[in-house]
Amino acid sequence: MRKARHHKKVKINKKRLTVTLLALIFLLAGITVLLHGCGPQGPTEEELAEQQRLEEERRQEEERQRQEEEKRQAEEKSRQDRMYAYENGFLMLLNKEHSVDENYKAEDMVMIAEEYCCPDRSASTRYMREEAVVQFQKMLDAGRAEGQVIKMTTAYRSYWFQKTLWDNYVKKDGEAAAARYSARPGTSEHQSGLAVDVSSASVDWYLRNAFGETPEGKWLAEHCAEYGFILRYPVDGEEKTGYMYEPWHVRYVTAPVAKEITEKGLVLEEYLALYDWENGGVPVQ
Ligand code: DAL
Ligand code: ZN
Repeated sequence: MRKARHHKKVKINKKRLTVTLLALIFLLAGITVLLHGCGPQGPTEEELAEQQRLEEERRQEEERQRQEEEKRQAEEKSRQDRMYAYENGFLMLLNKEHSVDENYKAEDMVMIAEEYCCPDRSASTRYMREEAVVQFQKMLDAGRAEGQVIKMTTAYRSYWFQKTLWDNYVKKDGEAAAARYSARPGTSEHQSGLAVDVSSASVDWYLRNAFGETPEGKWLAEHCAEYGFILRYPVDGEEKTGYMYEPWHVRYVTAPVAKEITEKGLVLEEYLALYDWENGGVPVQ
């Protein structure tokens, strides 16, 4: 009897133990699920890589849009700059096909200060349009500051002055030869108030090709665009401009235009053909 009771007691304890163990297992499983299933779960490596890829794509797209906007703004600025030049007559074209009449003279002509002019030349030619004079004097100041003394020999020429020159050249060399280096009256840029011939003491103030080889001529070719001037008749440009090389003849077109012409190695005729001037100066398609 005692033995049997004892046996029962052991039996009961086993049952309790089983229940307790099961409860513990459930409890542990519950805790595990709670910890791993419901808490914040860190991203996997693949998810991280995907996040980084998307982030990089977004960054690249932002950069592309920023560059596009910058380019658009630069193009708009350049369009406004060239329209300023065009609307103010600084892109006036005078060549064998484009002329002005004998009375043409710009309204804003001012005199170039004496210190920038060769002393022995006619004072009546010391005129250019105001903005061109300001820029011309700045250019010569900059040259002088770098040891390059350049001076004006002739700027403005009236129709009648040009006619006298032209007639003399024709008498001397014949019409065909004269037409390679001199403009018929009405077609010279010197009548526009935008052109000026310059020289230096190293070529005795003459207008000679050798001027292009002097330090002054080289300085001029390298820096004139910064001040809004172009070498209007470049080496090997005769087929395009109609005139032989003139390293001494600079023409005002404003700085942004001069820089574009110089950087692209164009002549004025080629530059003018790039844009639709009647429609806001947009590029010709
Ligand atoms: N020498 C240039 C072409 C002129 O006569 O205007
Ligand atoms: Zn000239």
